[in-house]
Amino acid sequence: MRKPLVAGNWKMNGSTESINKLVKGIRSGMDSVKNAGIIVCPPYVYIPAVVELLASSGIAIGAQNVAKEQLGAFTGEVSACMLKDIGCQFVIVGHSERRALFGDTNAFAAQKFAAIQQGGLTPIFCVGESLEERDTGKTEAVVQAQLEAVVELLGVAALDQSVIAYEPVWAIGTGKTASPEQAQEVHAFIRGWIAKQDKALADKIQILYGGSVKAANAKELFSQPDIDGGLIGGASLDADEFLNICKAAG
Ligand code: 13P
Repeated sequence: MRKPLVAGNWKMNGSTESINKLVKGIRSGMDSVKNAGIIVCPPYVYIPAVVELLASSGIAIGAQNVAKEQLGAFTGEVSACMLKDIGCQFVIVGHSERRALFGDTNAFAAQKFAAIQQGGLTPIFCVGESLEERDTGKTEAVVQAQLEAVVELLGVAALDQSVIAYEPVWAIGTGKTASPEQAQEVHAFIRGWIAKQDKALADKIQILYGGSVKAANAKELFSQPDIDGGLIGGASLDADEFLNICKAAG
């Protein structure tokens, strides 16, 4: 039985004031969430404040990006071991915004995946196709190539200490959610692809859905057999909305 998991990706949003309010809101309402793990992923600079605000709450903290190196002359970069040092447990990697805007190719994302694990953290590894790729029947090939980059570099066993997030690019920030059936189809494909290499790992790995998840559509998505929770963007910036999504997962 896989434990449901909901992660909030705040992206480049928030201020000291708004994040304070958001975190306090989540913390004060989290008792109503049963049986679901919760992660929040603030922008780097707010991570220490959020770690403090969520101390011994059971809510885990993730970062949204990481360097592929651990230490050294890499101006502007932040490493996995630094993130671990300040209290992070997870790092989002391979997000489509980073793939599209910041040069995170399949190979680069795989190297970052390795760095995250080397630093003692758990990757939340994002995969997903564009609308054009879906329309031309390439969804499975695209997702498989994204997964393969990691497996070729590190072996399938590396997926054991990771979470996968299927985020169709066309559903991110567009208000256009994949239907539960569309999402389930790809989740089942991902689990099946892993199962061909390691059945026990495939049964165990948490696969989250991301892309315009809201409290209103969360329950239906999360009730699919291969959807183990969500990676939430916009709706994670509102404490009540986010908590309702977490409740739907639990
Ligand atoms: P939205 O929930 O805003 O569509 O974003 C999804 C996402 O990209 C989470 O990583």
